[in-house]
Amino acid sequence: MRDYAKLQKDINKALGIDLTAYKEQQMRRRINQWLDRHQIPSYDHLISTLAKDREHKEKFLEYLTINTSSFFRDKRVFDVIEEQVLPAISRQGRPRIWSAGASIGAEVYSIAMLMREARFTPALLLATDLDEAVLDKARTGVYLPSQVQGMDPKYLEKYFTATGSGSWSISEAIKNMVVFKQHDLLKDPYDRGFDLILCRNVFIYFTSDTQKRLISNFVNALNPSGYFIVGSAEQIMDPGSFGLDRVSYCIYQKST
Ligand SMILES: C[S@@+](CC[C@H](N)C(=O)[O-])C[C@H]1O[C@@H](n2cnc3c(N)ncnc32)[C@H](O)[C@@H]1O
Repeated sequence: MRDYAKLQKDINKALGIDLTAYKEQQMRRRINQWLDRHQIPSYDHLISTLAKDREHKEKFLEYLTINTSSFFRDKRVFDVIEEQVLPAISRQGRPRIWSAGASIGAEVYSIAMLMREARFTPALLLATDLDEAVLDKARTGVYLPSQVQGMDPKYLEKYFTATGSGSWSISEAIKNMVVFKQHDLLKDPYDRGFDLILCRNVFIYFTSDTQKRLISNFVNALNPSGYFIVGSAEQIMDPGSFGLDRVSYCIYQKST
């Protein structure tokens, strides 16, 4: 018998992750797959392995938080960001931007490259994630060919260098535009005064009550007329109830 309620408590103690805020079915399925893959017979065995084996713990955390990301993910959204959002928020001066659930940094570096191309300077380009290991990858800025695939070659040529081993290293100029910080969207206080917040492909894992709580937190963190962007599968059904207007299909603006 696999006692999920007990596991939720044990995982919170072992990893600091509050699984009660995440969709149960999805998380249970993922954790059970992990047990099968590593031939771990029970949740209790998993917890004792996490306590004993540091590498297993890091790999499990990475697996649980699902770090999939890519540069200019969902081109339709990036077209609106480039043509409408960045010019609007840069008109008044130097905007503050936050990529929440930033994973390997591909999203925030895509924004940084667009800003540099347009000669806009951010006051702050903040990228946060729960997972410290993935933030280290983001800070290093070295990507596999599969991770840069599909990007307009002009960005690859201008802002990346091929390393000897077939990977691509992003330029120091782009790296230096971004501040990376560990932050748990469920537990940590939110900074304020942002002109653009992106939280894409993170909400899908949370229960609907948690999603609502986080959307309110994000709206409070935005300046008036600031933009809020979610993933294409995460559209907000009643944006007005959060004080948001829909700009384009998954892009919202704080009502004034
Ligand atoms: C699928 S990735 C999305 C990456 C990027 N935003 C994109 O759309 O390509 C989801 C990220 O959310 C992060 N995440 C999950 N729960 C979180 C939490 N409670 N606080 C902060 N980040 C979290 C994961 O670590 C993971 O890196």
